[in-house]
Amino acid sequence: MAAPGFTHGAFVFLLCINSVANYPSGKVTQSCHGMIPEHGHRPQADPVHHITVSQVTFRPGDQVEVTLSGPPFKGFLLEARNAEDLSGVPVGSFTLIDSQVSQLLTCEDIQGSAVSHTSSSKKTEIKVYWNAPSSAPNHIQFLVTVVEKYKIYWVKIPSQIISQPDALPFTTLKATVSPLSTPTPVSRLTKPFSASDCGNKKFCIRSPLSCDPEKEQACVFLSFTKHDHSVMVEMSGPGEGYLSFAFSHDRWMGKDDAYLCINEGQTVHVQPAHFSGRSHPVMDSRDPLEAVAWRLVDGVMQCSFRRNITLPGVKNRFDLNTSYYIFLADGSANDGQIYKHSQQPLITYEKHNVTDYPKNIGGSRSSLLLKVHGALMLVAWMTTVSLGVLIARFFRSVWSKAFFLGEAAWFQVHRLLMLTTSVLTCIAFIMPFIYRGGWSWHAGYHPYLGCIVTTLAVLQPLLAAFRPPLHDPRRQIFNWTHWSVGTAARIIAGK
Ligand SMILES: *[C@@H]1O[C@H](CO)[C@@H](O)[C@H](O)[C@H]1NC(C)=O
Ligand SMILES: *[C@@H]1O[C@H](CO)[C@@H](O)[C@H](O)[C@H]1NC(C)=O
Ligand SMILES: *[C@@H]1O[C@H](CO)[C@@H](O)[C@H](O)[C@H]1NC(C)=O
Repeated sequence: MAAPGFTHGAFVFLLCINSVANYPSGKVTQSCHGMIPEHGHRPQADPVHHITVSQVTFRPGDQVEVTLSGPPFKGFLLEARNAEDLSGVPVGSFTLIDSQVSQLLTCEDIQGSAVSHTSSSKKTEIKVYWNAPSSAPNHIQFLVTVVEKYKIYWVKIPSQIISQPDALPFTTLKATVSPLSTPTPVSRLTKPFSASDCGNKKFCIRSPLSCDPEKEQACVFLSFTKHDHSVMVEMSGPGEGYLSFAFSHDRWMGKDDAYLCINEGQTVHVQPAHFSGRSHPVMDSRDPLEAVAWRLVDGVMQCSFRRNITLPGVKNRFDLNTSYYIFLADGSANDGQIYKHSQQPLITYEKHNVTDYPKNIGGSRSSLLLKVHGALMLVAWMTTVSLGVLIARFFRSVWSKAFFLGEAAWFQVHRLLMLTTSVLTCIAFIMPFIYRGGWSWHAGYHPYLGCIVTTLAVLQPLLAAFRPPLHDPRRQIFNWTHWSVGTAARIIAGK
């Protein structure tokens, strides 16, 4: 997360996509969508585990017994998907048969829509029931990811397809589509997006400001064009990983309406999502998106889609007839799994109504104030304070005979450095308040630590000003207190 020269990593930054792996316990909801363990190894090719089902036709309300079996494995993640949209959201819910070895997960807001292991003990068979929902699609396929050990796993092993009795047969052509590819009609774009209508027909956000997506590979481009009741969205930029944008009510991530374009090697996957807090995005249904198209040429990824300005009854998609902050972020992706954005997301300076007058704007990646805050804290606590401590500790005896302006020279230098630290800390302290216009409620423990450090930094010179004379019995207590407060402040400031 650290910006250049900003080693002060725990600061308030937007941890939009963090991948906290929690594999042994099976609480793997961050892998719900891609079903890829975040182990950083390549999945195995030929599955040795398989899924069997108790019936090949089902009706809404049916319970289908699903069995996963094969050589001993430690972990798994099982979901049911629409066989015609295998990268869509999980369908229906499961009921456990043995809660010792399996547990239900809430994926994409659907309780029990996935099953995983409870521990990394070895097992050879798992049985669960799948409950067909009333809105079940015609064809269902179960997908399972099986982890034999940390480095050895298989991703999205498919089951045979089960169908509703009155459904048309599932064509084998569709069945051979890889689980990661995009199913619904998606077309190819033929040329780069044009910025020539920015500000008159298109509402554009560009980084760097006014870059040309037709000529510059590094140009990150996002545009909105209003047509009657819908908005056409175009996004392009460097295409190694993913590009994303989000509408937000505030300058913080959380509860936002987000859209991702993910480079999946040969294709681009366009995916609506929402953030529940500053965590991994939760993938949503692609149904509200129409006219999805993409292109992947010369390292540039483009994607476009249309969506209605208002989507009554659709969860997590915001109405675009009002103003939002807009976030633009990119990051790396691997096999459809996305990772935390590599640089600060770009955030618009103010809220914009993208369906109103077309504008031509930019944004900022990280506030200058926050960068200065980081730089000041770094200078104060890595440089001046360390020197000050060093001088008090080692030069007191070396320079014991040197005096300057009536005081020991080591003491004068120590005092100057420490006062500088206190002043820098106080200046740094107020900056986030100016930037956020108040207390940073969503920044975790960092602002609290900041208050403690600032209090200690102010306390130290005050204490020192009232230090007892050299031979006073209380001088020992002062020395000890001064040292401990100082050390505590340095430890906390280092966080
Ligand atoms: C968008 O709106 C049109 C009519 O205004 C409607 O026919 C269409 O179904 C809507 N699309 C979605 C995805 O809601
Ligand atoms: C936006 O559209 C929704 C749904 O039609 C409506 O309820 C809301 O009042 C509209 N907001 C504005 C600012 O026009
Ligand atoms: C946003 O723009 C649309 C279209 O011009 C307009 O109907 C709507 O009232 C605007 N919303 C706000 C909050 O200004």
